[in-house]
Amino acid sequence: MLKLDERRKTAMPDREHEQLQQRLATFNKRRLHPGLPTADWRADLEQDGDELLIEGEFLERERRAVAEHAASAPTDPDGFDSWLTELTDTGPGQNDPLFPWLADSCSMDEMKWFLGQEVAGEAGFEDLTALTQVKMPVGPKLELARNYWDEMGRGNEKAMHGPLLETLARRLGLEARTETTVWESLALANTMAGLAWNRRYAYHSIGALGIIEQTAPSRAAAVGRGLKRLGVPTGDRHYFDLHAILDVKHSEAWNAEAIRPLVTTNPGIAHAIAEGALMRLRCGERCFERYRAELGWSKDAQGAYSEPPAAENSQA
Ligand SMILES: [Fe+2]
Ligand SMILES: [Fe+2]
Repeated sequence: MLKLDERRKTAMPDREHEQLQQRLATFNKRRLHPGLPTADWRADLEQDGDELLIEGEFLERERRAVAEHAASAPTDPDGFDSWLTELTDTGPGQNDPLFPWLADSCSMDEMKWFLGQEVAGEAGFEDLTALTQVKMPVGPKLELARNYWDEMGRGNEKAMHGPLLETLARRLGLEARTETTVWESLALANTMAGLAWNRRYAYHSIGALGIIEQTAPSRAAAVGRGLKRLGVPTGDRHYFDLHAILDVKHSEAWNAEAIRPLVTTNPGIAHAIAEGALMRLRCGERCFERYRAELGWSKDAQGAYSEPPAAENSQA
C-alpha cells in the first residue's frame, strides 16, 4: 500500500495547465487586492493587458467546451428552471464517489489533503457576488445583496463564512498555498474570478455562483460527516454543517429571485447563465477526477472507480 505522499508523486503533472493556472492565480491575487498608486502603474496596466488576453482565451476555451450542452437549455422561465434544477443530478461531476468516501472512509491525512486543495481553490463567494451585482436590475441585485449579507454573517464577524473556513484550515494546520495546489483547483478559482471580474461574463457569473448554491449542500454534508467521524469538534467544522443546510435556501432564492427575473425579461441571456453553470460544474468535475487520482483511487476498463486501500490513521 502506498502512503499518501508516495501516491501523490505517481500523478503526472500537466506542466502547461499548471503554468497557465499559476499565472492566472498570481494575476487574480494582484488585481483583487487593495493597493496603492505606484510609479510603474503604466507598465502594470500593459502587463494586465497581456494577462487579460490570456485569461480571455482560457475562459473562451472553457465556454466552447460547454456551449453545445448549454444551447440545449429551454429559454422560457419554467423550462429553464427545470433544466437548471436537473443539473443537480445529471450535471458534470455530480454524485462523485469521492464524497461518500470522504464521509465514511478516508483517513485524516486524506481529508486534510482534500481540504487543503479546496481552501486554496476558494475564490471568496462574497467578493464574487459583490462584483457580479454591479449594475444588475433591482430584483436580482437585491437577491445577490441578501446572499452577500448572509456571507458576511449579517454583520457579525464570528458568523462570516470566509473566516469560518479559515478557522477550520487553521485548526487542522492545512497547507493552502498556490504552489502546492493542483491546477484543476486553481482553474476553478480562476474561472470564478474571471467570470465575476469581466462584465462580458456577468450572466455567466450569475449561473456559476447559482450552481454552487444548488450543488454544494450534499457535498458539504458529506465533508461535515467525514470531519465528525474523524473527531473534528463541532465548532471547527461549522462551515460545512452550515452550508449543508443554508445553501438549500440560498439556491431556491437565487433561482427564483435572480435567475428567473433575468430570463423572464430577456430570454436571450438564458444560455449565458447555462454556460456559466456548466463551466463551474465542469471545473468541479475536473477537480474530483484529479483528487481521486492523487488520493490513490483506480479506474477499471469499464470506467468504474475503486477506492484506495484504507490508510492506517483514520482518527484525528
Ligand atoms: Fe457561504
Ligand atoms: Fe450560500
